[in-house]
Amino acid sequence: MVTLEQWRAYYDGWAAGDPRVASTGHEVADADLDRLGAAIARWLDLRGREHVLDVGCASGTLTARWASRAASGCGVDFSEKLVDAANAAHGSRNLTFHCAEAADLPFADGTFDCVVCFNVLLSLPDHGYVWRAIREIQRVAKPRARIVLGSLPEVRCQQRFFEVVRRAAPWWRRWGSRLKDWLRPLRSRETKILWFDVAALRRQLERAGFRVEVHDDPPFANYRHYRKSLVLRRAPPGGSR
Ligand SMILES: C[S@@+](CC[C@H](N)C(=O)[O-])C[C@H]1O[C@@H](n2cnc3c(N)ncnc32)[C@H](O)[C@@H]1O
Repeated sequence: MVTLEQWRAYYDGWAAGDPRVASTGHEVADADLDRLGAAIARWLDLRGREHVLDVGCASGTLTARWASRAASGCGVDFSEKLVDAANAAHGSRNLTFHCAEAADLPFADGTFDCVVCFNVLLSLPDHGYVWRAIREIQRVAKPRARIVLGSLPEVRCQQRFFEVVRRAAPWWRRWGSRLKDWLRPLRSRETKILWFDVAALRRQLERAGFRVEVHDDPPFANYRHYRKSLVLRRAPPGGSR
């Protein structure tokens, strides 16, 4: 298990690099980020009137792409260094960035029309912590808010993930890892990130009163091969649409 402090130290390190980092931790092509931002804005059905929140905003590179289509926005991150970079690069009267912890958000109940948490839940210490963060996101969202829980590694796609990683590695590493597979067939396939049983999570969220759409991640880095994004909206009473 990676602790919260270890994750924070890791993400603090991003701030020392290119301030345009987003999601992957290295520079991503503008066109890919634009496409990802457009997908998030579409999922949220932004009309320019909303007050939105981005939980785990890093240096705001992605936030600015979709939150600029709302009336006002706010990004939070537990890395003070990334928050400083976000304010320097994208801060404005309508878009502000603050230091906060995903499971302890400094906002009143029912503040936001939309909440996004993209590519963050996978780097929390454990699934209990994930649920604390999800409940906190629900608390600060308005009753009819749209919520995106984005880029969750799907446990059923884990094999594909390992294949993608192996294909992307240089040939000597590919052969090295193949050799290890031959020598140690029972080698542990643990990763630092959390994996999600998306179908089970969807059922849990539906039991909690949400309508849930499940999407493949948009084409961006290699995420679409093994990650899913959930779009939530609270079901109206009686279950009608
Ligand atoms: C992989 S990055 C994704 C950044 C951004 N959402 C994007 O997709 O471009 C994860 C971000 O979540 C932040 N983060 C991780 N755990 C957090 C927590 N417990 N509370 C607040 N922020 C957290 C990290 O500092 C980092 O900026």
